[in-house]
Amino acid sequence: MNLTGGLAWHWLAWRSEARWAPTSLAIENWLLSNAQTSSPSNPENRPSLLLIGASAGWMMSSLWLQKFAKVDTFDIDPRAALLFKWRHGKALQANGTELHCHTRDALQDLPALLSANPKACVFFDNVLGQLRFQNQATDWQQVERRLKQLKVQLKGREWGSLHDRMSGPCTRPIALDSALPIRHPDWHDQHWLTQLDAQSPWLDHLTQDVFPTGVSVQNFAWNFSANYRHWLQAGWVRP
Ligand SMILES: C[S@@+](CC[C@H](N)C(=O)[O-])C[C@H]1O[C@@H](n2cnc3c(N)ncnc32)[C@H](O)[C@@H]1O
Repeated sequence: MNLTGGLAWHWLAWRSEARWAPTSLAIENWLLSNAQTSSPSNPENRPSLLLIGASAGWMMSSLWLQKFAKVDTFDIDPRAALLFKWRHGKALQANGTELHCHTRDALQDLPALLSANPKACVFFDNVLGQLRFQNQATDWQQVERRLKQLKVQLKGREWGSLHDRMSGPCTRPIALDSALPIRHPDWHDQHWLTQLDAQSPWLDHLTQDVFPTGVSVQNFAWNFSANYRHWLQAGWVRP
């Protein structure tokens, strides 16, 4: 059973598009200005991208994907490929970006994917924070070790990730049109959680050590439902 995607995810994402739009837009802006690959003037030399945990790309930006010459998406969900093509295929075709969608466990197969695509950038799209649900509840340390290991596996590579840092219920209802909380750079985590109206305890997604030290990390609020928020983090690593 897929605990982090599948039909339930597609249904929820489709129904929540309006509620999630401010976060999707903030992610798009961040991708376009921070996850900018060394953009060569010659479009023929654009890099390629391995997009892991792509699903249908419900919160992914076509504009950003257009920066790549070729995009290979990976998801364990067999419905994801068709839905991703439906949502992003036209925009990518219009821009001459090749699109290949694969049904595959890209975390397990990461070493093989990296050696088969030695120059490709990699982006983990809201998948690393889900690892804790795919392991037994008591294997948290193992999950943390696996997540820490990724930066070692990806050494020398241009890569990024967007993932859950924490999530949980809120102390008051979140109006559909309420402004997204924005984290001030000076705030420590507790201050940020207060701004998110976090009602303790929040779930730790075990992703605190995904990025190498020194990588600039962006924080996003995600109004997941009328009374539940996620704290997302994103970073882009250059070799
Ligand atoms: C929270 S959803 C994010 C979906 C997507 N990024 C979006 O914007 O719609 C996480 C996705 O990761 C996929 N996934 C989980 N483990 C995976 C793995 N080992 N390899 C590839 N995909 C995986 C799930 O099937 C699910 O579609």
